[in-house]
Amino acid sequence: MLTKIDAACEFLRGKTSIRPKIAIILGTGLGSFANNIDITETISYSEIPGFKTSTVNGHSGNLLFGHLSGVPVMAMQGRLHFYEGYSMQEITFPERVMSRLGVNLLMVSNAAGALNPEYVPGDIMLIADHINMFPENPLRGKNIDELGPRFLDMGDAYDSALINMAEKIADSHHIKYQKGVYIGTPGPTYETRAEYRHFRIIGGDSVGMSTVPEVIVARHCGMKCFGVSVIANFGYDAPSNGISHEDVQKNTEIAQKGLAVIFEEMVKSVNPLL
Ligand code: HPA
Repeated sequence: MLTKIDAACEFLRGKTSIRPKIAIILGTGLGSFANNIDITETISYSEIPGFKTSTVNGHSGNLLFGHLSGVPVMAMQGRLHFYEGYSMQEITFPERVMSRLGVNLLMVSNAAGALNPEYVPGDIMLIADHINMFPENPLRGKNIDELGPRFLDMGDAYDSALINMAEKIADSHHIKYQKGVYIGTPGPTYETRAEYRHFRIIGGDSVGMSTVPEVIVARHCGMKCFGVSVIANFGYDAPSNGISHEDVQKNTEIAQKGLAVIFEEMVKSVNPLL
């Protein structure tokens, strides 16, 4: 694993002179946020040693290096999912590489269904916490002590100070936001009505098919995490109105503006502190 991480880092360091402390993951329908980044390098996952390729519509599969609001960043335009058939270790390999490259803040976004009946499609939800409903944990197996601890504290998985910062930014820009618990499921099916009810009862506000593995591994490497769900569809009273991947992409486009402001302002405020 360590050799594989080093090979990817060596390859990337040869491709770009940007040395970011912040990495951003752009989820379903959020890839065009990349237009806000002053991109210097676009590197296809297929070129990077050890990276798997993204097979989903709406996920381009590029690693971007550049500046956001003048701050050096790297961004995953499209992510890898468990439902694509990859292992938990494979989908979280990019976070290992980010950390080794010097990144210490991971900002993730995802598209999600609403479990909280006060949410509507197009809403932005700051992720306060998560529930892992994947059948696995990416840290299962022999622990590599050089990378992180065997038993990981997940108490402040989504950094409270960063959430406070995001709330202040959203308020000052009059951006409507929610704050809640994200449930990560393996997918690729959307939920049955009973499953949506179940996820609400166990404490979820939004549900999606990503983020949890990435955040676990990012925390294992010691990175701080900040996450946002973009509410793409109703997951309560569902799915009488039907859910399609196209709807999910369309509704996330609507929320991009607010999300972009929050990410840009956070990057500016937080970078000097890293
Ligand atoms: N369920 C799971 N994943 C999702 C959903 C959903 O309703 N919407 C977008 N991703």
